[in-house]
Amino acid sequence: MIPDKAPKEDVFLGSEDLKKEAHVPSFDKYKELYIHSVENPGEFWGDVAKDFFWRNKHTGQFLDYNFDVTKGEIFIKCMEGATTNICYNLLDRNVHEKKLADKIAFLWEGNEPGDELTVTYRELLQRVCQFANVLKSQGVKKGDRVSIYMPMVVELVVAMLACARIGAVHSVVFAGFSAESLCERIIDSQCSLLITADGFYRGDKLINLKLLSDEALQKCKDKGFPVKKCIMLKHLSKEPEEIVGSRSPPAKRSCPDLEQKKQTGKAKKTRPVPQGVLHTVSGYMLYTAITFKLVFDYQPDDIYWCTADIGWITGHSYITYGPMALGATSVLFEGLPTYPDVSRMWEIVDKYHVTKFYTAPTAIRLLMKFGNEPVQKYKRKSLKILGTVGEPINPEAWQWYYNVVGEKRCPVVDTFWQTETGGHVLTPLPAATPMKPGSATFPFFGVVPAILNESGEELEGPSEGYLVFKQPWPGMMRTVYGNHQRFETTYFKKFPGYYVTGDGCRRDKDGYYWITGRIDDMLNVSGHLLSTAEVESALVEHKAVAEAAVVSRPHPVKGESLYCFVTLNDGVSYNQTLEAELKKQVREKIGAIATPDYIQNAPGLPKTRSGKIMRRVLRKVACNEKDLGDISTLADSSVVEQLFQNRCCTAV
Ligand code: WTA
Repeated sequence: MIPDKAPKEDVFLGSEDLKKEAHVPSFDKYKELYIHSVENPGEFWGDVAKDFFWRNKHTGQFLDYNFDVTKGEIFIKCMEGATTNICYNLLDRNVHEKKLADKIAFLWEGNEPGDELTVTYRELLQRVCQFANVLKSQGVKKGDRVSIYMPMVVELVVAMLACARIGAVHSVVFAGFSAESLCERIIDSQCSLLITADGFYRGDKLINLKLLSDEALQKCKDKGFPVKKCIMLKHLSKEPEEIVGSRSPPAKRSCPDLEQKKQTGKAKKTRPVPQGVLHTVSGYMLYTAITFKLVFDYQPDDIYWCTADIGWITGHSYITYGPMALGATSVLFEGLPTYPDVSRMWEIVDKYHVTKFYTAPTAIRLLMKFGNEPVQKYKRKSLKILGTVGEPINPEAWQWYYNVVGEKRCPVVDTFWQTETGGHVLTPLPAATPMKPGSATFPFFGVVPAILNESGEELEGPSEGYLVFKQPWPGMMRTVYGNHQRFETTYFKKFPGYYVTGDGCRRDKDGYYWITGRIDDMLNVSGHLLSTAEVESALVEHKAVAEAAVVSRPHPVKGESLYCFVTLNDGVSYNQTLEAELKKQVREKIGAIATPDYIQNAPGLPKTRSGKIMRRVLRKVACNEKDLGDISTLADSSVVEQLFQNRCCTAV
């Protein structure tokens, strides 16, 4: 479990300045609260819930669950009977009860530098009420599903909250998805209305959403699912009021009983989940709010910026719901980190005096490739806390983030979580947890992790195996929409009594948790289980390498062999000497068993728009199989052709 005392060696400590005002100022305090949260969840979460508006308080015990398939149906009940409205909590409560009416909710920064606007909590409330009326006038009722396909604009938040206000279920489809993907998601969720925009620019590329939406709606019609209503924001022509429409009085808010909110529908990624992940309003609201508050040590004068897209869970939880529940001021950014140049992030940090900054390892590695100068062109004095999410961060990237971006002043919170968990589950608290580069450290309150071996036995002390959770917390998913059986098989069948994350994990001598990557990303070389993430990390430590992705390729003798793709830093060229060096590096870091069989120079890697590498595609390249399946979620499909052209035919 959690050590009695925080380790003092080989760790990075949070800043002393932060400790003075922090909500959780020390490791001892963390430990005390953690034990309380696990032993008395009702009391712990009851205190958190006090700050929110409830139409009805929960009845009966706070938490009830069964994680054991051999004992009957899996269920998670939390705050049964509680009713509330999440939109009321995010807007009305802040405007009317918390006196935050004139506080800025979003500082919107467009794709082009200089394109900007601000919106206060009062203005947002007005716009949400108006738009809720528009939705009602279009016949949208409680329980109806609404598809939202929009760029990162304030109107996207307005649309989401207007849905939540009237009890409709929003399904936000990432605006980088194709017409085919949009159509699929509309039909999957049986949406009665589509909210979209005419288009937007990503860097210098025009994304014609109108065309894509028209095509998607035509496809829906052809498949026998006509969507009659569509509302379009004129974003390109700068007439945002188009979406607002009606000026009638504010919509009456409804208080759906534990209104169920379907997440982003199909999120096709490297892992075979999370489709139709279903969360409940009360639990999701409490959990996103409290994790936001404690993990980013939220203070009222913060300027917070999460660079994720709202179409993904990180944007749902940590742009819309968590920060707004606290009445925070957030930057909402429409553009790209590399447009018009690779300093854009830091320019924005200085422009708005961002204090808390949350991004993904892939973005960090991308920017790291261009060296320190683009970062150091800007001051970044306002920054206090840096966060990362999405995949294991290799220690090298962590160090760069900490040393260069944060100038050794800002703790890095490496937050491990999943669409399914609703919010952070393993994470440092910035003033309390000594950090180790690459480790997500310890569990958040209410979360009880364990590491199991292949036979399902809990491992104690330093160990490596499957990461599971032993009991639920409020933000945990409740089921798979319309398919409870799938929920049981995906997450509970393998190890009765535990929620299985699907991630591999190592616990070190100090009790720190280190995510080693998806279990499906493990490979077995001559009977040795290797984590692709570990090999990638070893490759990336070489100064020539910006990014690496490793997949397995079947091998007649070893079972599986290591096929490595490396993206080199700007200005470095690939040659045999480098190849030999890379092999040596991996051998030295991990062992001879992990020596790469193939190394391919890959100027571009196939990534989803949220930055996850699609290993499925790389496995096909490694085996020279051209049947790639659906690759519509790829950010740039042209890299695939290039990868096939550069294939290695013989082992190195
Ligand atoms: C991975 C994103 C290591 C992990 C919030 C998980 C991480 C999957 C981290 C969920 C992290 C996310 N360290 N791995 N800090 N954060 N992951 O549903 O494999 O898009 O299971 O949720 O991302 O991805 P999802």
